[in-house]
Amino acid sequence: MESYLKIFENNKKWVQQKLAEDELFFEKLAKDQTPDYLYIGCSDSRVPANEIMGLEPGEVFVHRNVANLVISTDNNINAVVQYAVEFLHVKHIIVCGHYGCGGVKAALHPADMGQLNSWLQTLRDVYRIHQAELDGIADDHLKFDRLVELNVIEQCINVVKIDHVQRKWYETGYPKIHAWVYDLHNGLLKELDVNIKDYFSKFRSIYDMM
Ligand code: CO
Repeated sequence: MESYLKIFENNKKWVQQKLAEDELFFEKLAKDQTPDYLYIGCSDSRVPANEIMGLEPGEVFVHRNVANLVISTDNNINAVVQYAVEFLHVKHIIVCGHYGCGGVKAALHPADMGQLNSWLQTLRDVYRIHQAELDGIADDHLKFDRLVELNVIEQCINVVKIDHVQRKWYETGYPKIHAWVYDLHNGLLKELDVNIKDYFSKFRSIYDMM
């Protein structure tokens, strides 16, 4: 049997399990979605959004790409953020990186990566912005971990640069932006000690569109 066929078996079991818990589970879900959260994370197969947050279908709107980047010319992320903010009225936008991220690691070592070059450019820019701090870290592991964290913070700033987010901020005080890192070694989520609103105030005179 081809290995992918087991997915349909898994799916049937999952449906049975959900119906056993609540026979109206799918009927209720099919009506509407009203998630409170937009999660922007890495595509890494070891970091499944709903599972690590303990959230059910319908509770989180998810966007994933290599190294959880928010790039201003990426039509995909822009559409996701606009939809989440304007139509779903999410209260929280979470940018979640993870230690051991292959995309971030690649950015630490300059090399020709073909199609990935332009994508990794954004990570190299994060390195450049924080070069003084990063080059001051002698231990390679700690430096890698710190770049993961700084990338999450910079992508949160990129979220705030989006006009739809700013407009909603001024109208309602939401969404709140959260910088998180997931640890592959113990499964724990960590909230980074940075207030994105305060942090953004440093750059407000440059990026504020409202
Ligand atoms: Co990753």
